[in-house]
Amino acid sequence: MLVHQFRSAVSKKMDYSVGGLLPVLLGSIGVLALYQLLQRVRQRTYIQDAVVVITGASSGLGRECAKVFHAAGARLVLCGRDRERLLELARELKGMADGRKKVHAPSIVTFDLSDMEMVASGAEEILKCYGHVDILLNNAGISYRGAILETSVQVDQEVMNVNYFGPVALTKALLPAMVQRKSGHIVVVSSVQGRIAIPFRSAYAASKHATQAFFDCLRAEVAQFGLEVSVISPGYIRTNLSLNAVTGDGSKYGVVDKNTAEGRDPTEVAKAVLTAVGRRKKDLLLAGLLPVLAVYLRTLAPNVFFMMMASRARKGQKHKEN
Ligand SMILES: NC(=O)c1ccc[n+]([C@@H]2O[C@H](COP(=O)([O-])OP(=O)(O)OC[C@H]3O[C@@H](n4cnc5c(N)ncnc54)[C@H](OP(=O)(O)O)[C@@H]3O)[C@@H](O)[C@H]2O)c1
Repeated sequence: MLVHQFRSAVSKKMDYSVGGLLPVLLGSIGVLALYQLLQRVRQRTYIQDAVVVITGASSGLGRECAKVFHAAGARLVLCGRDRERLLELARELKGMADGRKKVHAPSIVTFDLSDMEMVASGAEEILKCYGHVDILLNNAGISYRGAILETSVQVDQEVMNVNYFGPVALTKALLPAMVQRKSGHIVVVSSVQGRIAIPFRSAYAASKHATQAFFDCLRAEVAQFGLEVSVISPGYIRTNLSLNAVTGDGSKYGVVDKNTAEGRDPTEVAKAVLTAVGRRKKDLLLAGLLPVLAVYLRTLAPNVFFMMMASRARKGQKHKEN
């Protein structure tokens, strides 16, 4: 009896007709649209006029990041080793101005990330550009192709210097000023290979795993000062990374391999980086379904993952011998 009364009371109260659901639906869409609009405004104001330092701005993802951050109104400091290419980019950015939006002419600072003294003087020069840094985008990097058995320790060190010690040294040099201002955002472009290690990429995967660990620690330590840390881990991107990769004997790999050629468009990835930074994402895996599944497999069923990697290594070895 009681149950019956309850049911009829509920059915009277809830109107499931189209007319009854429509206001709820429209209300939800409205709230969602308003939330997205607020997110966009928040993201825009975060980047507009912010001092953004981009390493590896001369090519690939860094170059595309420079374009999207510039278009979003950032005051850029473009870093790399090749001054000419950075100047060419600066000219290209100048040509992009359409007068409708406030944009800034970029500054250029050149240094080699594998030379710690140059990194220290580069950091001083960076700070002189605008007096402070709002966002440091540690993007520069090199890749590696080779078998561990055939790779010299010097090559391991070279990759670690560019991908790990360089960004760490630059971050440490710029960090005290950020802590003092209680404001700043450190972003690092890692890789899916910072989460999973695949055969014949040992030096690269090791440098990116170290990067992930260092910046995870940093995030925890600087949260108390109001600083943000983002680690962005993309899958393959269509850039010159494999072309510029080093091999076991230190020579250039010089090949755009299939995965890289079929990788994501760097402009799209740069836009995703801009959004992630604007939304202060702490950690982002920017990859397709398969790499994401591989990351979960490594955590949830490591032995299956190890078996698959061993089989991949055997196939890679055979391919090399044939
Ligand atoms: N492409 C991919 O498939 C992929 C996937 C995941 C993650 N990533 C990561 O994305 C980032 C950007 O790479 P990319 O794909 O855009 O490759 P890229 O086109 O080869 O660009 C690499 C950039 O790093 C700079 N660089 C290299 N060695 C340097 C050094 N010793 N000192 C200072 N700068 C140096 C280069 O500048 P100069 O040579 O002009 O000095 C260049 O601007 C890297 O961290 C990479 O690991 C790439």
